[in-house]
Amino acid sequence: MSESEIPVGSPGAERIRFGEPRRYLVDIDSISTNQLFADCVVVGSGLAGLSAALEAAQHRNVVVVCKETLEDSNTWKAQGGIASVLKADDTFESHVADTLKTGCGLSDEDVVQQVVRQGPDLIKQLCQWGTPFDQVDGQIDATLEGGHSKARIIHAHGDETGRAIAETLIAQVKKTPTIKVIEHFYTIDVLTDEENRCVGIIGQERQRGLQILWAANTILACGGVGQLYRETTNPSGATGDGIAIAYRAGAILRDMEMVQFHPTTLYIAGASRALMTETLRGEGALLLDTTGHRFMKEYHESGELAPRDVVSRAILAQMRKTESTHVYLDVRHLDKEYFAKRFPLISDLCESFDIDVSHDLIPVRPSAHYMVGGVATDTGARTSIPNLYACGEVASTGLHGANRLGSNSLLEGLVFGAVAGRAVVQSPAADVVSLKHPLIKYQIPHSDRSRLDAADVRNSLRALMWRNVGITRKAQPLIEAQEIIQFWHRYVMDKIFDSPEGWECQNMLTVSLLIAHAALLRQESRGVHYRMDHTERDDTRFKRHIEVVQAN
Ligand code: FUM
Repeated sequence: MSESEIPVGSPGAERIRFGEPRRYLVDIDSISTNQLFADCVVVGSGLAGLSAALEAAQHRNVVVVCKETLEDSNTWKAQGGIASVLKADDTFESHVADTLKTGCGLSDEDVVQQVVRQGPDLIKQLCQWGTPFDQVDGQIDATLEGGHSKARIIHAHGDETGRAIAETLIAQVKKTPTIKVIEHFYTIDVLTDEENRCVGIIGQERQRGLQILWAANTILACGGVGQLYRETTNPSGATGDGIAIAYRAGAILRDMEMVQFHPTTLYIAGASRALMTETLRGEGALLLDTTGHRFMKEYHESGELAPRDVVSRAILAQMRKTESTHVYLDVRHLDKEYFAKRFPLISDLCESFDIDVSHDLIPVRPSAHYMVGGVATDTGARTSIPNLYACGEVASTGLHGANRLGSNSLLEGLVFGAVAGRAVVQSPAADVVSLKHPLIKYQIPHSDRSRLDAADVRNSLRALMWRNVGITRKAQPLIEAQEIIQFWHRYVMDKIFDSPEGWECQNMLTVSLLIAHAALLRQESRGVHYRMDHTERDDTRFKRHIEVVQAN
């Protein structure tokens, strides 16, 4: 099979074609633009990106580019932990079964087996590199989260697991001479040749301006889309860039309607929507409404440990019932000293708002947390575009299906990061010497439409997505969202920006439109996608993926 016939995408999927006016967001003249060369470029510095870089760098030279600094990633913010089978009373079969059940019929079982079974060895490697996973009696400690039938969520520094893992990987990267890191590099697009093979990226480096980075292989690992929503746990960089970039290049996207909302984020006006980790509930925290009533058992037999989508909808319903803006997490009954030790980040945060967790309730509500869908890949992290790979949240590997089991995403990033790194090394054209990069000249017609306040579009879009394409959905609001976004998209895509704010705004509109469109098409409720006008799962019509590919 030739490289251009890579069979990424799912048999039986409904594939829709959607127009996108631009191939690239900026004018390109590859001759006059600054150029760098690498065997492999990795876009993104979270767990998946750094794992990919470390793997590939054993045999190739690698450049990692990131929008801000190495530390600015969703991984860094992850609290609860990483799910893996490490205890004697746990089994791969049980973790696989929990993941498949949560995925509601859309997970790919081969991928689930691959991730669950490869996890423990990679975690051992993290331990060898020095990740300080918390221990009890000399053994790694593990806790519960919703949907897991065993306590298998391991953690570090209590609720700073992501940071501990990221620090470990960053230290390894800094020790690896074959990895060069470029921070403050905004990736605008991946570049493709006349046969639509990926040949690198174009981006803007803060100091040096536009740069082309020619690479034999490119790995997208640049995270999710939380910033499309007014309320989100995600960092400011989570604007869907990787998905939009892959889409413009013609890659197949999958399950775009599947956006996961986290039930409990801190709700204090003026404070960021900080995550209140699900492991709080795993360790006994209760959910109370504003009248003090514990309500979760009325919605699900597992109470506070019901699947995330169920808890998020239950909180919304209870907020409506009580006409409140939030509910509460109650940890007053937990031992104060143990709490401070087990959840130091949350303890400090609460203290900074004068919340004494042994006396006061913590106000919370749901917010956008994780993009379940994304750029479709196969079991080798390959996208449908030759020489372009994806891993981490930007990718749709088939692990999560229609819903993500808590703490499976760090595991997926770890496994698929390594898979992508290995795939790059083994690919037929793995070094830059074999790369024949094309001459690329691309010019966007000049537009004299009026100037645009990208920040205003962004805020309006986030409010619209929250209102119309949020936790619960219905045809009419989805149609309205699609029409409004299409209108904004038309005139925003007409502009040529020269800074990340503008490009992010363009990417956010593209990705929002695709999410709204796919959400409208899926006339059923499954996993994280809940339609108030189609409340049941419909296996006859919808036990399949919806894929999107650009039409031009
Ligand atoms: O609640 C949490 O700590 C989140 C974990 C996750 O999203 O996997």
